[in-house]
Amino acid sequence: MLIAQGKVCIEGVVVRDNLQEVTELSDVICDGKAINTHKAYYIMLNKPRGYVSATVDDEHQTVVDLISEPFAEQLHIAGRLDKESTGLLILTNDGIWSKLVTEPIMEIPKRYLVTTEKVIIPEIRARFAEGFYFAYEDITTLPSELEIISEYSATVTIYEGKYHQIKRMFHAVGNRITSLHRLSVGCLELDESLDEGSYRSLTDVEITATKSLCSE
Ligand code: URA
Repeated sequence: MLIAQGKVCIEGVVVRDNLQEVTELSDVICDGKAINTHKAYYIMLNKPRGYVSATVDDEHQTVVDLISEPFAEQLHIAGRLDKESTGLLILTNDGIWSKLVTEPIMEIPKRYLVTTEKVIIPEIRARFAEGFYFAYEDITTLPSELEIISEYSATVTIYEGKYHQIKRMFHAVGNRITSLHRLSVGCLELDESLDEGSYRSLTDVEITATKSLCSE
C-alpha cells in the first residue's frame, strides 16, 4: 500500500517495485520515518604477522581481536590475508559493499610488496604476465604484473585472490616468499600512518570511490 502510494524510499529513491531488495543496512524511509537502525562500519587495518583473517579461531588470535570497538563482532573480512602476511585488510558489516570488493568478476587489482629468498630474475615477468596454471584447481590465473624493485624485492599486482596465490606463483618459478605485505585493494591504499595492528575508519570518499570503481 505505502509502496503504491510512493511513500517508501530506499537509498533516497522512491520504491516502485515490491520486490526491491533491502539489507539491514539499507537506508529505508517509510512514510517519512527512517526505519533502519543499523549503522555501516568500514575499517582499514594494518594487519600484523601471526593473526588469522577470521572472526573466531580456537588456536590463534584473529584480526577482529585487534578491533577494540563495540561493533567489532558485527564485522567480517573483505578479502583475507594469510596468517603470516601483513598490510591492508578491510573489515566491514556491509555485506553488499564487501561483495563488490571481493567478487572475482570485478577483477579488482590488489598490490603487494614481496621479499624473496632467492634473487628475482627479470625473465619471470613474462610468466606473471601469462598467468600460472594451478593443477590442483585446474585453473590458470589471470595475467598479473611483477615490478622488480631490487634483487630480493618486488611489487606484484593480481586481479583475483586464489588460495596462497602469490606464494604459489613464486614457488612455480623456483623462488620462495619471505614476506608479503598488501599495499592496496582497488583504490584503497594502506594508510602509511597506521602502525602494525592499528586501524581507522574508511573515509566517505574511500567508501564511495570503491563503490564506483566496482560499478564501472
Ligand atoms: N597471496 C598469498 O600467497 N598470500 C596472501 O596472503 C595474499 C596473496
